[in-house]
Amino acid sequence: MKTPKGTRDLLPEDTHLFQLIEQRALTHFARYGFAEIRTPIFEETALFHRSIGGDTDIVTKEMYSFVDKGGRNLTLRPEATASVCRAVLQHNLVGPDDVVRLMYLGPMFRHENPQAGRYRQFFQLGVEVFGSLDPIIDVETIDALMRFLEPFHLPNLELVLNSVGDQTDRPAYLEYLRRELSKKADRFCRDCQRRIAHNVLRVLDCKEDACQAELEGLEPISNFWSPENRAHFEAVCEGLTRLNHPFSLNPRLVRGLDYYTRTTFELISGDLGAQSAVMGGGRYDRLTEHLGGKAIPAFGWALGIDRLVAILKEHTSVEPARPDVFFVFGQRAWLDELFPFLCALRDKGLSVAFDQRVGSFKSQMKRANRSGARWAVILGDDEMRDHSVTVKDMDQSQQETIPMERLWSKVTEKKGENHGR
Ligand code: HAM
Repeated sequence: MKTPKGTRDLLPEDTHLFQLIEQRALTHFARYGFAEIRTPIFEETALFHRSIGGDTDIVTKEMYSFVDKGGRNLTLRPEATASVCRAVLQHNLVGPDDVVRLMYLGPMFRHENPQAGRYRQFFQLGVEVFGSLDPIIDVETIDALMRFLEPFHLPNLELVLNSVGDQTDRPAYLEYLRRELSKKADRFCRDCQRRIAHNVLRVLDCKEDACQAELEGLEPISNFWSPENRAHFEAVCEGLTRLNHPFSLNPRLVRGLDYYTRTTFELISGDLGAQSAVMGGGRYDRLTEHLGGKAIPAFGWALGIDRLVAILKEHTSVEPARPDVFFVFGQRAWLDELFPFLCALRDKGLSVAFDQRVGSFKSQMKRANRSGARWAVILGDDEMRDHSVTVKDMDQSQQETIPMERLWSKVTEKKGENHGR
């Protein structure tokens, strides 16, 4: 048996990087006031219809929906913004003057055609800020992302921005699009022909080159922005410039989900081939109302952890975890005798390995070498008699014999010298 199509096992070489990203994220975003939320992996199907939109690719083609034994229509979450909004309303998390910052980490599910960087189960890191219309929130939340990514030193990343307007100015743009595209509807793919009639903005997301070519020469959405929405977008651009985050503009960036208002943005990587978006997000000031709750303006983004890991693997050599010490025993009985000592070293924070078969000295040293251990700790007749250990520095091939009780301080003192391991 194998993993189902589009899913994969994350083996230690991957989970190592997943953990690094997740642990850094929890510390980094806490500094901005983000607290973690965990919502269920499945929700009522209607939640995604009402938020992501009934004409989007996600809802029409990609959802893992099922009827459970109680007859409920449920769906494995394809994204988490809808779930977080549902939770915010359900638990009344945002009072009238509150700004609430929530983050999440976890698997999402989309029935897409698998290819490099595109899976049916993938992992997102996401943040959502509720309670403010101020463009400084857009700037701060994008800044938090850029600073999070900085230590990873990813080359070839491009921040791309747009504004999709809102209920005040978007209808005029949609009307314009519908009028123009209807004139040549037969040149669009079947999906787009339907979209032109029902949800024309989604034509801009179409992945067919032929459809994209037909969009050339159309007026950009910026020609339709209201003065307020233009001012909001300009404030976002100015704020990012002030913080030295370069970006480019893409008037067709409408982001494939229906809930966005005003700012939309993505980070595009030159290293990901067709699946070039490392992350995406934007403002969604009307979503809580669409879900039947009070109006709460909001801004957020989600990053594809699988895609970030793919870029990291391309550009950084990641050292596998290695034990601090590998014990080598002259006799099996000594392992049993010293086992409590080994366990206590782990309590003190060392990573300790040994070969439970306690074969020849040579075979144990071979294993110590193969494990990548920083030190081999050797216990032969002399050491057992003197209550000492011989510590061999495996990187420098030097060794010295010291009293057993000095082992911990010697190894940790050296560990301190050995930065970054
Ligand atoms: P999204 O653009 O659909 O936005 O997904 C965000 C990121 O998840 C993508 O940029 C990509 O890195 C990753 N991703 C999406 N689908 C797959 C896949 N099949 N395989 C691997 N990675 C994938 C959202 O999900 C919104 N909820 C973002 C948001 C949060 N907007 C506001 N707040």
